[in-house]
Amino acid sequence: MNLLDGKYVSEKLKLEIAEEAAKILANTGRKPHLVAVLVGHDGGSETYVASKMKNCEAVGFKSSLVRYESDVTEEELLAKVAELNADADIDGIIVQLPLPKHIDPEKVTEKINPAKDVDGFHPVNLGRMQRNLPSFIPATPYGITLMLKEYGIDTAGKHCVVVGRSNIVGSPMSILMARNTQPGNCTVTICHSRTPDIKKFTLDADILIVAIGKKNFITADMVKDGVVVIDVGMNRETSTVTKSGYKLYGDVDFENVAPKSSWITPVPGGVGLMTIIGLLKNTLASANKEVYS
Ligand code: GUN
Repeated sequence: MNLLDGKYVSEKLKLEIAEEAAKILANTGRKPHLVAVLVGHDGGSETYVASKMKNCEAVGFKSSLVRYESDVTEEELLAKVAELNADADIDGIIVQLPLPKHIDPEKVTEKINPAKDVDGFHPVNLGRMQRNLPSFIPATPYGITLMLKEYGIDTAGKHCVVVGRSNIVGSPMSILMARNTQPGNCTVTICHSRTPDIKKFTLDADILIVAIGKKNFITADMVKDGVVVIDVGMNRETSTVTKSGYKLYGDVDFENVAPKSSWITPVPGGVGLMTIIGLLKNTLASANKEVYS
């Protein structure tokens, strides 16, 4: 078993990103600028957004946080996105999900200018990604591809099983792994809540990517020897032991699956850290006008 070490890879890539940001500052006198919009006080969202902001500062980006209480109207939020779209000092806009029930996330996502959509959630970016055109790639799938690249994992011709079909991870991940790129060129199976006998598919996986939000969902009897396991799970449980007051669990029973796998991501210390890198790289690409000129 070898560890796909998110801490190691993310620290290495952050140094590269910081160098690029310094070049932009030297050449243009400005820093790449990411704006995050956070609605309400969901514990997970608070943590993730705080981490995004902190990491922006760490690599020399400017970051701004726009906060709303959970009773903000959809209209107000859409007006704010329009304002951010029009602000030439802003390179990237993210609206943290999930949003309260009275706000349609699709409307908000579609309101963001695709050229500033560093989450890569806008249908224009999703369509461009599927066609292998320049686009912003959703941060978590992007981070996973960077991790596979870093460790030289050969994916061509392999059977990749993606468990979960969310807009944020499972769906874009399945597109990336099927594309004619490296990593990519996989035969891809997507399993979801209506798949009977998921084990039948996971047992055949050469590469298993799990993003369903259920602690220890993948057990040792569900994988074959030598599998590459990417665990996207971020299941928070309260804990009296940790300083933060909670503990993070993946979707994979790491202790028992790791001995059967050739490569595996730990939780924490795996995919979560790479998600930040995906976001930072998209913001950098936006500042450099690499995707949309
Ligand atoms: N909620 C969970 N993951 C993400 C993400 O990558 N971006 C946004 N905006 N919201 C999320």
